[in-house]
Amino acid sequence: MTATTSFSYRLDDWRGGHRTQPQEFAYWIEDITGTIPADLTGTLFRNGPGRLDRGGQKYHHPFDGDGMINQVSFREGRAFYRNRYVQTPEFQAEQRANKILYRGVFGTLKPGGWFNNIFDLRLKNIANTNVIYWGGKLLALWEAAPPYRLDPQTLDTLGLDNLGGLVPNGQGFSAHPRIDPQGFLVNFGVQTEPNSQINLYEFDQSWQLVRQQEHPINGFAFLHDFIVTENYYIFFQNPVNFNPLPYVLGWTGAAQCLQFDREQPTRILVIPRRGGAVRVFLTDPCFVFHHANGYEQGNELVLDSICYSHFPTIDQQTDYQTIDFASLPSGQLRRFRVNLTTHRVTNTLLLERCCEFPQVHPQRVGRAYQRVYLGVAADPVANAPLQGIMALDVPTGRQKLWLAGSRGFVSEPVFVPRGEAEDQGWLITFVYNAARQCSDIVILDAADVTPVATLHLHHHIPYGLHGSFTPVLFDA
Ligand code: CO
Repeated sequence: MTATTSFSYRLDDWRGGHRTQPQEFAYWIEDITGTIPADLTGTLFRNGPGRLDRGGQKYHHPFDGDGMINQVSFREGRAFYRNRYVQTPEFQAEQRANKILYRGVFGTLKPGGWFNNIFDLRLKNIANTNVIYWGGKLLALWEAAPPYRLDPQTLDTLGLDNLGGLVPNGQGFSAHPRIDPQGFLVNFGVQTEPNSQINLYEFDQSWQLVRQQEHPINGFAFLHDFIVTENYYIFFQNPVNFNPLPYVLGWTGAAQCLQFDREQPTRILVIPRRGGAVRVFLTDPCFVFHHANGYEQGNELVLDSICYSHFPTIDQQTDYQTIDFASLPSGQLRRFRVNLTTHRVTNTLLLERCCEFPQVHPQRVGRAYQRVYLGVAADPVANAPLQGIMALDVPTGRQKLWLAGSRGFVSEPVFVPRGEAEDQGWLITFVYNAARQCSDIVILDAADVTPVATLHLHHHIPYGLHGSFTPVLFDA
C-alpha cells in the first residue's frame, strides 16, 4: 500500500482483534516474510488486555482486560516469542472461579445486576497498560496501583513491587514513565486519599530515588501521561467532572461517571523539576491521554499532544464491539505553545488524520525534535481504527505512511534506535491480520517507514496498549 491509498475497513474484521487469547506460547518464529535485521538485538516487551471475557460474560471495555505480556527477543536475525498473563491474586481468583468477581474501572460489572454491584468498590489490579525494563527490573504498569514485578527471562510474576515503600498499596504509579536522556526514569502517581495529589519520582539506573515531590491538585484529575523537559514536569488536566453516584450504586463503572465540561478550560500544570510551586496555564477545552513530546524554547514550552474534542467514552448500554467510530471524536496531534512570561497559550493542528500512540527517538525525549511516529487511521479525516504507521516531520509537515492493508489493524509502533539521528532505527508494531485471524509482528525501517520483515504468529494476540524495547537480550 502507498501513501495515497485509502480504503474502508469492516467492523467485523476489527472485532476479531478483540478476542481473548487464553493460551500462553513460547517459540522461535519460523514463518517470516523479508529479513530480520542482523543488527537488531534485544527484547521488545508489550502489555495489553489478553482476556476480554470471562464465564461467558464480555468485559464492558477492552481497558478492563487482564494484562498479558508479550515478549519478542531479536538475536542474529531470529526472533523468539513468548506471552504470559500477569498473575495478580485477583486474576488468579477469577481464573479459579471462571467468573467475574471484580468490577472494572471502565464499566465491567459483576453478574447479578446492580444489587450485586452496589457499594462494591473493590478493583481488580489488571496490570495491563505498559511494561518497562529498567534498572534490572521488569515491571508491568497500571496507573491505579503499584507495579507488578516479573522475571524478564520467563515472564513469571514475582509480585507487587512498592519501589522500596515509595508506592504503597492503594497509591498509583502511572503507566507512562518518561526516560530522561540523561539517564533517569521519571514518573508520577495520582493519590486520591486523603486528598488529591500528584506524587513525582525520579530514579537513577539502580532505582535510587534522586528527586521526589508532592503537590495537591485542585479539582478532579484524570492524568494518564505527562511531559518531562529539562526543567519541568507538565500535565494536562482535562476539563472533566467526576460524579461517582452511578458507580457507587453499581449501575456503571467509574469511567462512565466522568463528564466532559465544554465550558471549562483545559488546565496545563507546570511544575519545576528542582522544586517550586505548580503554575497553571489555561487553554481551550480538550481531552488528552497521550503526549508526543515537549521541550523548552526560550521562555516558551512547546507541547505536542494528541487531543480529542471531548472525552471519547461509551455509555453503559453500548457494546464496544459494535461501536460506530464516526460517533466518537478522533485523536489529532496539536502543538501548544505556553509562554511562561505572558501566560499566553496558543495551539495549532499538526495532523488532522486520526492518530494515537506517539513515539520519538529516546534521545529526543523532552528535547527539541522534528520527527514523531504514530499509529494512524487509513482515512485521512474520519475517525477509524488504526491501520497505518506514520512518520511526521513536524517543521515541514512532510509525512511518510505505511498502511497495513484493509484487513490489517496496527498497534503502538515502538521505536528502536540504531543511531543518533531521529530517523535512524526501526519501528516494531503488532498487526492483527483479519485475513488470517492471526497477528503479525511488523518491523519497519523508520527512515522511510517501509517493512523490512513481517513475522507471522500462528495465533492472534488481542490489541495491546503500550510497550518498550531494551537492548538487553532475554530469550529461550
Ligand atoms: Co497510555
